[in-house]
Amino acid sequence: MESVVTLARLAEEISREAGEMLTAKRPARPEVLATKSSPTDVVTALDRASERLIRDRIREIRPGDAILGEEGGLTGDGRVRWIVDPIDGTVNFLYGLPEWAVSIAVEVDGEVVAGVVNAVPRGEVFTAARGEGAWLAGERLRCNTGVPLDRALIATGFGYGTGRRKVQAEVLAHVLPRVRDIRRGGSAALDLCSVAAGRVDGFYERGPEYWDYAAGGLIAVEAGARIGGLRGRPYSPELTICAAPGLFAELHELLVPLDPERDA
Ligand code: IPD
Ligand code: CA
Repeated sequence: MESVVTLARLAEEISREAGEMLTAKRPARPEVLATKSSPTDVVTALDRASERLIRDRIREIRPGDAILGEEGGLTGDGRVRWIVDPIDGTVNFLYGLPEWAVSIAVEVDGEVVAGVVNAVPRGEVFTAARGEGAWLAGERLRCNTGVPLDRALIATGFGYGTGRRKVQAEVLAHVLPRVRDIRRGGSAALDLCSVAAGRVDGFYERGPEYWDYAAGGLIAVEAGARIGGLRGRPYSPELTICAAPGLFAELHELLVPLDPERDA
């Protein structure tokens, strides 16, 4: 079995290749190819092309590995599984906003050991390998610590369904008066990298799928953050909270009575 660092380097190389293809091929106005969970949950041809490129490279180099991708689902089995979001922040990509990324994580025996989030338009590639830290441009990342809730800049996001959004707006109405401010960037993977880099203090969201947070989650944890769900449960699409341990506890305490795992 390769080292976690080797797997992270390979994920980085593949994410860079996908990023180059996306930069070269992105038309001024990408076309919506299909919608998924709701009319606003879109797929462009380049989401699919990016996942295809990533899957082809993984298969060429490591034909025995499993791959779980946002567009193509699960293929193969094996102790090593790649978790791929070919474009996280598809709506930003569609509108020409720069907040989107290619996200690739690698699991061994069900544990994420390597993660790469390539913020293509920004030219920033966040990487982490389990036990080896989180990195950006040769600098080790450290999340902000010692920030009380009322001084915390908190990133969050909203789902695509109206019933979910109603509850998310209700929860947000209670959170907003208690924190410094809220940011809605449009890519959960990059929100988690922002926690890692100290560009926001914390993050919470109901809904992101495993491919949205697998790589960014490792990057945040390797930068010293805690990531989890409500009441000691692991983070999941039900709810993901991420912040330095002290702020995590305060944010968790604020969220629990708001019952944020509901949909209307
Ligand atoms: C979405 C983004 C967004 C988050 C949504 C995700 P997509 O992923 O990560 O920030 O709020 O929950 O679905 O659709 O752009 O790949
Ligand atoms: Ca995504």
